[in-house]
Amino acid sequence: MAAGSSKLPEGVPEPTDLVHRLLRAERRSSAAAFRTRRRTEEDDAFIVELGRRVFGEYDLDSARTTASLARRGRTLVVCNEVQPLGFVILEPPSGGAVYLSAIAVVDEARGKGAGRALLRAAENLAAAEGANRLELTTADSNVAALELFLRSGFVRTASVGDYGRGQPALRLLKRL
Ligand SMILES: CC(C)(COP(=O)(O)OP(=O)(O)OC[C@H]1O[C@@H](n2cnc3c(N)ncnc32)[C@H](O)[C@@H]1OP(=O)(O)O)[C@@H](O)C(=O)NCCC(=O)NCCS
Repeated sequence: MAAGSSKLPEGVPEPTDLVHRLLRAERRSSAAAFRTRRRTEEDDAFIVELGRRVFGEYDLDSARTTASLARRGRTLVVCNEVQPLGFVILEPPSGGAVYLSAIAVVDEARGKGAGRALLRAAENLAAAEGANRLELTTADSNVAALELFLRSGFVRTASVGDYGRGQPALRLLKRL
């Protein structure tokens, strides 16, 4: 028998499945420690700095763009007990849809459920405002964002030629 091809006894999970399950369980327990709330003026420097860093690859003026999106839309912040860790920005509702214009989490807090907590809070806010769908656009190459959105129930509706700095993107939608 070739090395590595031995079969595990029935009912025993594959090691990779086990690792995924453990990581998911850890994420769920950290997610419980996240709190989401409306942005206050004190969050603005954090929001602009995080936006500058993470959206720079799509937008040469990412700090200014983030500041203007946050002013125009509604912004929610995810925090732990001590500090903000990320934000999501929603445009004002229009024709039953709310457009999610930005979502970001600081590097150190990624992969622990903060993005999902933000997305859930955004969906709840949009639904409370009477919207029946949430829409957004994200770069084709943005694996982390696509995983977050597709695993949260978004579906692809269209391709977008140029998302910024020549990058192709996908338009996604979730019915609320
Ligand atoms: C996209 C982003 C907000 C995700 O935040 P996060 O806190 O790391 O996400 P979560 O930990 O809540 O993960 C949510 C899901 O996405 C998956 N995911 C997150 N990052 C991933 C990665 N790098 N690769 C594969 N899957 C990933 C997780 O497995 C999880 O799914 P599961 O719970 O079913 O296992 C974060 O990566 C980020 O800030 N990116 C830079 C900004 C950006 O690109 N924003 C999107 C464009 S608007």
